[in-house]
Amino acid sequence: MSLSTINKITVLGSGVMGHGIAQVSAMAGYNVVLRDIEQSFLDKAMEKIKWSLSKMVEKQKLSQADADRIFARITPIVDLKQALKGTDLLIEAVPEDMNLKKKVYAEVDSFAEAKTLYASNTSTLPITEMAALTSRPDRFIGLHFFNPPQLMPLVEVIPGGRTNQSMVDMAMGFVQKVGKQPVLCKKDVAGFIVNRVFIPLVHEAVYCQERDNNVPMTTIDSAVKFKMAFPMGIFELADYTGLDVIHKATVEMHSRDSKVIRPHPKVKQLFDEKSLGQKTGKGFYEYKGDKYERIN
Ligand code: 3HC
Repeated sequence: MSLSTINKITVLGSGVMGHGIAQVSAMAGYNVVLRDIEQSFLDKAMEKIKWSLSKMVEKQKLSQADADRIFARITPIVDLKQALKGTDLLIEAVPEDMNLKKKVYAEVDSFAEAKTLYASNTSTLPITEMAALTSRPDRFIGLHFFNPPQLMPLVEVIPGGRTNQSMVDMAMGFVQKVGKQPVLCKKDVAGFIVNRVFIPLVHEAVYCQERDNNVPMTTIDSAVKFKMAFPMGIFELADYTGLDVIHKATVEMHSRDSKVIRPHPKVKQLFDEKSLGQKTGKGFYEYKGDKYERIN
């Protein structure tokens, strides 16, 4: 296998990460199928891709003709068998739940052609364990994009215990071809590199706020933005990422290595009450409108 054999890509899951990965792949010239379980999810995802491309046209990063060509390269499909037909590389971006992944990979295995390589956009689940659920653990790899995939330059590449070297080479080349910077995570540990730092950071920010007599979150956010040059404050970034994503990553990382993180109960509380951040209008902060304007 080599990068030159990759022409058609299927992205499973059309949420924040899936639709973004589909878009960056199409921008690199690939023919992409975006697959989800309901047409309405795909319709929303295609709208988001259209919006993102139009932003790029507005900012003169793309011409309108290029944006139209990129959009036309992405085909939304519900039927899994049809979505996998002729696919060279599958990129799975379904929610972070091992039981769900198990079900998805069992279905995928029943339709995927022998040539199809598998990649997962998981942010914390062990690649070796997921690869073992499939018929091709030697051709399975982690490709962890960051939100928003259209703008974030980094992708973590995580080989599993049985991933072969040509698959690693293909993945590193693929990430560069889609205009991103790959970082090879040699150890398949929960949270890889970035989430190993980012997820504890969110919890420590809450401990810090509590310790300092409930100092306003904006004080902590301002400190990291203006003194440490973070592009967003920690609470802002947590709301942007989603408290569901953060809580699930926390549970996963803590259950596998209790030393890496001190979960703060506030994160679980926000998750339990469905205050998930920008997407629900409330997380650490509150938001209004479809541009997620902050109101506190
Ligand atoms: N496509 C195209 N344009 C987009 C876009 C998208 N998907 N999303 C936002 N934009 C646009 C904005 O609308 C804005 O346009 P405007 O100027 O007309 O309003 C423009 O891009 C730039 O926005 P900003 O002025 O806010 O520019 P920034 O320079 O701040 O960049 C950012 C935005 C890249 C999101 C930056 O704030 C950033 O890097 N934030 C941190 C994000 C981050 O750390 N992500 C990782 C989260 S952790 C994760 O994903 C891992 C997971 O496993 C948990």
